[in-house]
Amino acid sequence: MSNSTKIWFVTGASKGIGQRLVRQLLARGDRVAATSRTVASLTEAIGPASGQFLPLQVDLTHDQSVRSAVAQTIRTFGKIDVIVNNAGYAQQGTIEALSDEELRQNFEVNLFAPLSVLRHALPHLREQRGGHVINIASIVGYQGGYAGWGSYVASKFALAGLTESLAAEVAEFGIKATVVYPGPVRTEFLSSGALAVAKRQIDEYAEARASLDLHLDTLHGHQAGDPDKLATLIMQAVDVADSPLHLFAGKIANELAALKAAAVQRDLDAWKGSSEATDFVE
Ligand SMILES: NC(=O)c1ccc[n+]([C@@H]2O[C@H](COP(=O)([O-])OP(=O)(O)OC[C@H]3O[C@@H](n4cnc5c(N)ncnc54)[C@H](OP(=O)(O)O)[C@@H]3O)[C@@H](O)[C@H]2O)c1
Repeated sequence: MSNSTKIWFVTGASKGIGQRLVRQLLARGDRVAATSRTVASLTEAIGPASGQFLPLQVDLTHDQSVRSAVAQTIRTFGKIDVIVNNAGYAQQGTIEALSDEELRQNFEVNLFAPLSVLRHALPHLREQRGGHVINIASIVGYQGGYAGWGSYVASKFALAGLTESLAAEVAEFGIKATVVYPGPVRTEFLSSGALAVAKRQIDEYAEARASLDLHLDTLHGHQAGDPDKLATLIMQAVDVADSPLHLFAGKIANELAALKAAAVQRDLDAWKGSSEATDFVE
């Protein structure tokens, strides 16, 4: 891909990180197809449809809706250079409290929707022998030790793992993949309209309760990450020749990633002998 203007497909763009990214892309002259569950919220947040901007009402949990959005983007702009799987939400709840429906819906949006986008967009990227897939995971998709957030953590670990596999799968076609692990970012993400709190809570889980209170009362509105700067970082990672596979965003994300790496190294060191002894002796 050259550094000339690009064509982007961004999911979940009516607010937060997606909205900031789309605004910056349009400002620098790129063309953008952006999705939202309600197209009106998208045009209100960003502006009307134009030769540069294609707002799309998409139900990301329905494969046909995703398929027609990708097809409409290709019909309108001729190609897609960069896919940003950004839409997502946090489902709070301890593992035994979460209903099957709560869990599955969270995975529908955070994992199966990106898979659906890729299923329909990758054939075009393979054919044009180039492109870049950005999957927005979370630092909790790398360092997952948070009581009461198992569904969200698991969905983001899955998205991160998928991105690593994808990178290996599409490299031969000149396609790149990046998993972004933001720390806390100041958006609507922890607002009552966005955060899904489990319908059932189990009182005995004090850690999970405390973590929920912390997120709602202390963290919401005070997150360290600036969504505009994160959007700029994503654009930089796409523009450079040697794009990272793993992109940690923010000081907190960098610190937590280092702690996780050190914790894994400690476990590796402590169990190396007995672990390696499980191999056949040949
Ligand atoms: N903010 C953070 O602290 C943080 C940290 C790490 C990772 N992230 C990740 O960054 C991404 C963007 O989050 P944000 O901070 O910008 O949050 P946000 O302000 O709440 O925006 C989330 C976007 O995702 C879409 N979305 C949410 N729930 C959806 C659902 N059930 N079905 C379809 N689309 C849905 C929304 O699309 P509509 O336009 O349809 O409303 C919205 O535009 C998410 O994947 C999130 O997990 C956020």
